[in-house]
Amino acid sequence: MQGLLSYAGYHFQTEERLMVEHGYAKERAAEHVRQHKDFAEKVVAAKAQIQAGKRIPKTDLESFLTTWLTDHILHTDKEFGAFIRDQQARAAAQKD
Ligand SMILES: [Fe+2]
Repeated sequence: MQGLLSYAGYHFQTEERLMVEHGYAKERAAEHVRQHKDFAEKVVAAKAQIQAGKRIPKTDLESFLTTWLTDHILHTDKEFGAFIRDQQARAAAQKD
């Protein structure tokens, strides 16, 4: 769980820095960051439950991770990636 938090945190920080650098729309950035925070809070809560001795079925964790990551990557991250690609294409077109 700690490794997951560190890994996710690194990626979330990178994306959030790029949102600022590229001027991503504030409301879209806020929703994206909210999803990152929600994910981190859930993982921290699960980690605390495990540390307190509560057993969480492995299938529940796998289901949560798979669903969240798939949904986030396929929708929220993909939308941000398209924004950056559009911005880069417009910048390249202006150079021509
Ligand atoms: Fe993201």
